[in-house]
Amino acid sequence: MRIVIGNVLSATQLADLRAALAKARFVDGRDTAGFAAREVKHNLQTSAADPAIETVRQMVREQLLANEVFALAVRPKALSLMFSRYEAGMRYGLHVDDAIMGGMRSDVAFTLFLSEPESYDGGELMIDSAAGDDAIKLAPGALVAYPATSLHRVAEVTRGARLAAVGWARSFVRDAAQRELLFDLDTARRTLFAQHGPSREFDLISKSLANLLRMWAED
Ligand code: NI
Repeated sequence: MRIVIGNVLSATQLADLRAALAKARFVDGRDTAGFAAREVKHNLQTSAADPAIETVRQMVREQLLANEVFALAVRPKALSLMFSRYEAGMRYGLHVDDAIMGGMRSDVAFTLFLSEPESYDGGELMIDSAAGDDAIKLAPGALVAYPATSLHRVAEVTRGARLAAVGWARSFVRDAAQRELLFDLDTARRTLFAQHGPSREFDLISKSLANLLRMWAED
């Protein structure tokens, strides 16, 4: 399942983040790419060793973990996060993300867009599917999360600069189809409760949801 979540960051948080990134040190993205991805990766990213961005990175992590839709769709156990920048002429060709990064299995990948879409051309996140490529370019503060199992690329930026936070979650539920089933059940049960209050039906769906999660979760 792929999901778009708007307004993960407030306007103030976005402004603080952009100000911090304007002063941050960006390094060649090839430094962290595997041998094959290195051939197609052409971007800049913040250095993991840069303490100046630690405060904003922590802020983004907290916003993500506090976001109810993100929690229901991703069921994150752990998150890793960095910031990337594509200037004119930069792109990231088709690749699959590493299955294990820094000791953490990557189940869900996400991109949190930080630049105004009008301020740059190109730079769409293209996710490969049997039906063709889907191009994704969102408003600043909006995020797309998708299974890390997908082939994907970032189209070349032809004008301006594209700033984004990119990251991966280790989910309590490894399988994307199982995560989607849990998301649908949880969403339906919450709507049922909002419309009709407590009921036997709500309790039975809640029981099924909790027991499916017990069956599938790896804690
Ligand atoms: Ni990637």
